[in-house]
Amino acid sequence: MGRIKLVAGNWKMNLNLEESRTLAIQLALGYTFNRPRMVVIPPFLHALAVKDQLMSVQSTIEVGVQNCHQELKGAYTGEISAAMIKSCNISYVILGHSERRQFFQENDDLLAQKVCTVLGQGLIPIFCVGEPLEVRNQNGQNEWVNQQLSIGLFHLDAAEFSRVIIAYEPIWAIGTGVTASPAQAQEMHAYIRSTIQRRYDQSIADQTTILYGGSVKGSNAVDLFDNPDVDGALVGGASLDPVDFIKIARAMGA
Ligand code: PGA
Repeated sequence: MGRIKLVAGNWKMNLNLEESRTLAIQLALGYTFNRPRMVVIPPFLHALAVKDQLMSVQSTIEVGVQNCHQELKGAYTGEISAAMIKSCNISYVILGHSERRQFFQENDDLLAQKVCTVLGQGLIPIFCVGEPLEVRNQNGQNEWVNQQLSIGLFHLDAAEFSRVIIAYEPIWAIGTGVTASPAQAQEMHAYIRSTIQRRYDQSIADQTTILYGGSVKGSNAVDLFDNPDVDGALVGGASLDPVDFIKIARAMGA
């Protein structure tokens, strides 16, 4: 896929159907660019309505979903498969968000399976990694993230891996209003790139898109995006505000 600039809005479990459609239209009217790529990620139930809404105005904005099951079909009440997502022409799937890891007991072994399933359907995983505050306080973040990458992603061969987007989201920065400093973000993104280089090679490391996530807002996006290894953002709270989310996307530049 190659290294791209991308700003993705994770709507999490927010907005009713009408509100989702309205936000989609507000974004489509305000953001008519191809670069950076803009992706909105509503709850499953609203993803198709949002996609239809965006398509009806020929928007450049793409749609993703927040999770998927590791099996392609079967008796898994309440779950959604990668094959279903593909059949809706939706391309992006967040995997391993810290809220899934924390509240739904998703571990790296399970995520390794989900990544394979998603890639097998030709979808693009946005694979989240990031350390909790206790780990950061003990300066253990590199080891922590390395472990998440090693188990969750590094079983992939080079061709598979090159279709993955990584999002570094320190847990202490998610929804807290505390952003990693631009220097902390750059340091971790450069570290992630170096682990990719060690596992694969320099060219794959250079081509990997690495997003930052955790309290990104219009007001701090420029400084975060100023870093050479930060290729965009995965945005939660601020993605529900069309003005601020567009400001974040514009901060990335073309
Ligand atoms: P936040 O969430 O922007 O509200 O901190 C980021 C995320 O969870 O992806």
